[in-house]
Amino acid sequence: MGTRSAEWYGGAGRNSYIHRAWMRRGLPAHAFDGRPHIAIANTASDLTPCNSHLDEVAEHVKRGVWEAGGVPLNLPVVSLGETQVRPTAMLWRNMAAMAAEELLRANPVDGVVLLGGCDKTIPALLMAAASVDLPAIVVPGGPMLTGHFRGVPLGCGTDVWKLSEEVRAGTLTEAEFMRSESSMIRSRGHCNTMGTASTMGLLAEVLGMTLPGVAGTPAADSRLLEAAHASGSLAVEMVAEDRRPSAVMTRGSFLNAVVALAALGGSTNAVVHLLAIAGRLGVELTQDDFDRTGSGVPLLVDLLPAGRFLMDDLHRAGGLHAVLREVRDLLDPEAITVTGRPLVDWLGAARIHDPEVIRPREAPLLESAGIAVLYGDLAPGGAVIKPAAASPHLLRHRGPAVVFDSVEDFHARIDDPDLDVTPDSVLVLRGCGPRGYPGMPEVANMPLPAKLLAQGVRDMVRVCDGRMSGTAYGTVVLHVAPEAAAGGPLGLVRDGDMIVLDVDARRLDVEVPAEEWAAREPSPAMTKAFAAPSRGWERLYVETVGQANTGADLGFLTGSSGHPVPRDSH
Ligand code: FES
Ligand code: MG
Repeated sequence: MGTRSAEWYGGAGRNSYIHRAWMRRGLPAHAFDGRPHIAIANTASDLTPCNSHLDEVAEHVKRGVWEAGGVPLNLPVVSLGETQVRPTAMLWRNMAAMAAEELLRANPVDGVVLLGGCDKTIPALLMAAASVDLPAIVVPGGPMLTGHFRGVPLGCGTDVWKLSEEVRAGTLTEAEFMRSESSMIRSRGHCNTMGTASTMGLLAEVLGMTLPGVAGTPAADSRLLEAAHASGSLAVEMVAEDRRPSAVMTRGSFLNAVVALAALGGSTNAVVHLLAIAGRLGVELTQDDFDRTGSGVPLLVDLLPAGRFLMDDLHRAGGLHAVLREVRDLLDPEAITVTGRPLVDWLGAARIHDPEVIRPREAPLLESAGIAVLYGDLAPGGAVIKPAAASPHLLRHRGPAVVFDSVEDFHARIDDPDLDVTPDSVLVLRGCGPRGYPGMPEVANMPLPAKLLAQGVRDMVRVCDGRMSGTAYGTVVLHVAPEAAAGGPLGLVRDGDMIVLDVDARRLDVEVPAEEWAAREPSPAMTKAFAAPSRGWERLYVETVGQANTGADLGFLTGSSGHPVPRDSH
């Protein structure tokens, strides 16, 4: 079978002449003799600080591609810096996925190495690779080394939330808080907590999409470059074997990812991302699979935000494979990796080197971790909570709602000394779903009222149609579907309504007499706060985005178009 690039470059016709001639800037004639052309989908960007080292990683991928007889081609793709872009990087995840998919299809390439790191970059690349279905392998950019402040390790993200709460509670001066800033980012790489970037890097491997043993390697570790080289070589081999994402990311692989997500104590954002990737492949995966398959899995990894350690500790303690080995009986033994061999084949030699960081199966941190999916009056389409990051005493709770119609409304009133709020109140924030904000920002982990912080309160029940940073913690119900802006009942809640959370029973309800509830209308103040963009990507997004429970992809982007492009350009 001829390669895809050979269709562009092969033969003596005018079009193949054009395709070749413009590429001959150092590429020898034999580069076009039918050997595989491998794109390096590179999210390096100075404005994505977590990925800024990926150009160096790409150089090592290139060496591996050449060595295996392929031709490597750097392809800069849309990059998203979680901490930099407004209104939220999630608004652009689908755009990044769509752009990468189209560029891979439009160009004469036979396979692709995906370089990501910061939160949205690996999900977007996997969505793209799934839809174009060309042989693809991920090199996760890897986490940062651990920085320290006052002699104590700092967790990226998590400690920003913690230290800023300390300032608000009056137990840390603003000057000290400012001093911690230069200690937060010790090295190249993404956040070192078990946030979304760490989670998705690890889950890319569990899905089978990386060279086994790579995920979690710190960005500054020389072994990452060696792995980049090997991944480049493997990409060439994958083209020869025609091993595509659709063969690697099967339902079994996704269920393996659900198991791993629970054992790792990974980010709630992984739910939305995995659903979106599965949607691109037409693999049947629902939010309920996370509860069914994941919620009985023990929590084995003691990392921030739920625990104590950080990503380089996990790597030192034996890494992902040591964790997976403990839950091997729960993994699909047939789910293959980019190597063509099953994931479970690699687990035999794994060992736990530090049982404080990775607990053995017999002594888990929690008997059952994972994600709980709640249904009820307030969430007919489901909502998500991560019990491992919540306060046990709040997992069953009844309290009056204090309702905010937007993030701005929340910030304006939360520290008002006259706000009618007690530690038993349930903070409700709406207008933060995919459509309403737009883009479903990470605002669900609402800061607590200053007056309650001063009393020593450190957690309250919070309910939101948005997401929560993977580095955050607390008793937070998120991804409420449908969102208020899509007509969800969360939009009907009023101050003082009794909200009942019962995580064991998987319920989220409101105690309002049925007749009164049926007669309620959404308030104009709330609907006015919903996004109503008139043009551009935001408009396309708001008009076509799905809800969190199906992955918040654009409706017309689900499924795959494959890679054929029958027409030439001239
Ligand atoms: Fe990039 Fe956290 S900001 S991974
Ligand atoms: Mg994040």
